[in-house]
Amino acid sequence: MYILKRALRALAATALMLVAGACLAQGTVKIGVIAEFSGPFADYGGQILAGMKTYLKQNGDVFGGKKIELITKDTTGAAPDIAKRLAQEVITRDNVDILAGFGLTPNAMAVAPVATEAKKPMVIMNAATSIITTKSPYIVRVSHTLPQDAQPIAQWAAKNGVKRVFTLVSDYGPGIDAEAAFIKAFKAAGGEIVDSVRTPLANPDFAPFLQRIKDSKPEAIFVFLPPGSQTIAFIKGYEERGLKQAGIKIIATGDLTDDGVLEAMGEPTLGIITSFHYSAAHDSPENTAFKKAYIETNGTRLRPNFMAAAGYDGMAAIAEALKKTQGSTDPEKLMAAFKGMKIMSPRGPIMIDPETRDVVQTVYIRRVEKVNGGLYNVEFDKFPDQKDPGK
Ligand code: PHB
Repeated sequence: MYILKRALRALAATALMLVAGACLAQGTVKIGVIAEFSGPFADYGGQILAGMKTYLKQNGDVFGGKKIELITKDTTGAAPDIAKRLAQEVITRDNVDILAGFGLTPNAMAVAPVATEAKKPMVIMNAATSIITTKSPYIVRVSHTLPQDAQPIAQWAAKNGVKRVFTLVSDYGPGIDAEAAFIKAFKAAGGEIVDSVRTPLANPDFAPFLQRIKDSKPEAIFVFLPPGSQTIAFIKGYEERGLKQAGIKIIATGDLTDDGVLEAMGEPTLGIITSFHYSAAHDSPENTAFKKAYIETNGTRLRPNFMAAAGYDGMAAIAEALKKTQGSTDPEKLMAAFKGMKIMSPRGPIMIDPETRDVVQTVYIRRVEKVNGGLYNVEFDKFPDQKDPGK
C-alpha cells in the first residue's frame, strides 16, 4: 500500500512537471535563425541576427503574451544541403515555430520545401532572387528582390544620359535576376547593352573580365555581386586596371556599396551611383533610433546594413503578427497576419504584398560621398512603392 502511494505521488509529481513544462512551452515562441554565421559570408548571418536582437532590445521580447527565443544555426556559406538539414533539425529537435534568416538564395531555396511540409512560416531576411517566395506558401520576404532594386537604376541611368552599358553579375539567382531586369528596363528606356558577363559565385578572378570590359569601352558597367570579399576585389581591380581613369563609370544595385563593406573598399567607391532600399545614411527618426540601438546591442564592429535592417524588420513583422494572433503560432493565422502588414522601417515605409508575400518599398538612388570623414551612400532621388517587377 505504502509503495503504491509513493508510486502514485511520483506519478502525480511527474504529471505536474509535464503540465508546468507545457505551460512554459506555451509561453515561448521559438524562432530558428538559419543563416551564414561563418565562412566567406559570415557577416550576412551576423548582420541579420544583430538586427533581430536590436529589435528585441528596443521593444522587449514578449509579444502576444509569448516570449521570443532565438535558436541560431550556421549554414557556413552557400550550402543548400546543410541549410536543409539544419531546418529539419531545428523543426524536429528544437520544435521551432518559425524559420527565419537566409542571407543567400541557395540556402533559402533548399529550405522552402521543408517549410511547406512542416507548415512553418519562413521569414526571408535577405535572399533576393525573385522566385523564392513562389516556392512555399509559408514564405514571407521582408528584404528586397534584385529586379526591384535593379529596375530603378536602369531607368535613372537612361534618363541621365548613360547610353552604352556592359553588365557584370554573379552567376546565380540574384545575379541572373539583376541582369535580366536591368537589361529589360535599360533597353526599354532607349539604352544599348554592349555585352554581358557572369562571374562564378565561388572565388571569381575579375582580371580577365575587367580587361574585356575596358576593351569594349562602355560608358558604364552595371554590377551585381554579393557583398564581401568579391565586391572588395572587384573595386580593387577596377581601380588597378585603369577603368576609372578610362572614364568607365560604375552603376549598380546597392549590394556593391554595402554599408558593412564600404569602408573596406575605400575611396575608389567615391561617386558610385546605386539603387537600393536601405542606406545607413537614410535620414529619418526611425533610422537614427535603429542605429543607436544597434550599437548599444551589438557594439561597433559592423556598421548596420540592409541585412541588419531586414533582420530588424523581420523581427518586427513576427512581433506584430504574434500580437494579432494573440500569441497563437498557428501557421495559417500567422501567414494571414503577415499579408498586407505595414511597418515603418528604418528604410522608410514597407508593406507585405498580400498576394505575393513579397515586400513593397521605396527604392532610393544614392551616391557614395564622404560624410563626417566616413564613406556613405547618400540618397538623392527615389522611386516609391516598388514591387518586384516580375510578379
Ligand atoms: C542572395 O544570395 O540572394 C543575395 C546575396 C547577397 C545580396 C543579395 C542577394 O546582396
